[in-house]
Amino acid sequence: MNFKVKDIAQAATFLAERQAPFLYEIQNVEGTKSSSWHETAIATSISEVGFRFIENKNYDRFAPGFEWTDDWASAGQNRYNFLEIDHVTMNARSMHGLTEFYRAVMGFEQYWGIEFHTTHHNPTASTGSGLESIVMWDPESQIKFATNQPLAPYFNNSQIQIYIEDNNGAGIQHLALGVKEIIPVINGLRESGCVFLDAPGKYYDQLPVRMVENKIGAIQEPMADLKRLGILVDGRDNKYLLQLFMKEMNVQTGVKESGPFFYEVIQRAGDKGFGDGNFKALFDSIEQDQVALNRQEMRDRTDCLV
Ligand SMILES: [Fe+2]
Repeated sequence: MNFKVKDIAQAATFLAERQAPFLYEIQNVEGTKSSSWHETAIATSISEVGFRFIENKNYDRFAPGFEWTDDWASAGQNRYNFLEIDHVTMNARSMHGLTEFYRAVMGFEQYWGIEFHTTHHNPTASTGSGLESIVMWDPESQIKFATNQPLAPYFNNSQIQIYIEDNNGAGIQHLALGVKEIIPVINGLRESGCVFLDAPGKYYDQLPVRMVENKIGAIQEPMADLKRLGILVDGRDNKYLLQLFMKEMNVQTGVKESGPFFYEVIQRAGDKGFGDGNFKALFDSIEQDQVALNRQEMRDRTDCLV
């Protein structure tokens, strides 16, 4: 994962003071017209995931080592207007090594935390799935990192554990891309063949009640469009967010080696959460449908939404 920094020397000093495990010293690459690229990288507590820090002084290519192609102009357009990476979510069998890594090495602070289990809804169930999550952030840049761990009982049923098996270790589960208007984005992505998690029909039947219970308030976007596109609604106290999750990359591509990583698209209208209400609502909808869920169906329908 790559981080843009204002000052590479300052970033490296900050990390060195915190005993970050550097993978290499600062590398300086000159471009043309006095442009330059400066980077260093560290190992992390997230299996083989490395963090690279880049100071880009008008470097005249995408990055060192990439080949220039004539398709550059058309390939570089951000046609869906993705504004930012809203958050990054990691999965691990134990989240605390990661959250302490963020605190001790990256200087992050805790932002949010939650736990959820299907047995909270159905205490007599003899199976189930759950997770705990902590979100850490860097207040200055506002970048947020969620980390999930499975929650007992039925630890091995958790989507988090299944991800870890599919990924051959802890890793980045999803990136959430922030947009200003989600409806045209999902419309376009669906037309271009992206496959999203489907909300069960009951989700939209139950939504009005959930909106009242959580005091979500009025939604600006037409409900018919949200339902048609399968966009999910969450929030509380007259603030909301709209979000939708793509299916895992190995489903999108049909290639197992693409792995269980996926993207989320999120539009915020004041709510600063991560959609935990949707996670619960999807489970509720499924249980009420009385669907006999096997592992694959569970993964397709309820992949971790945090
Ligand atoms: Fe998310």
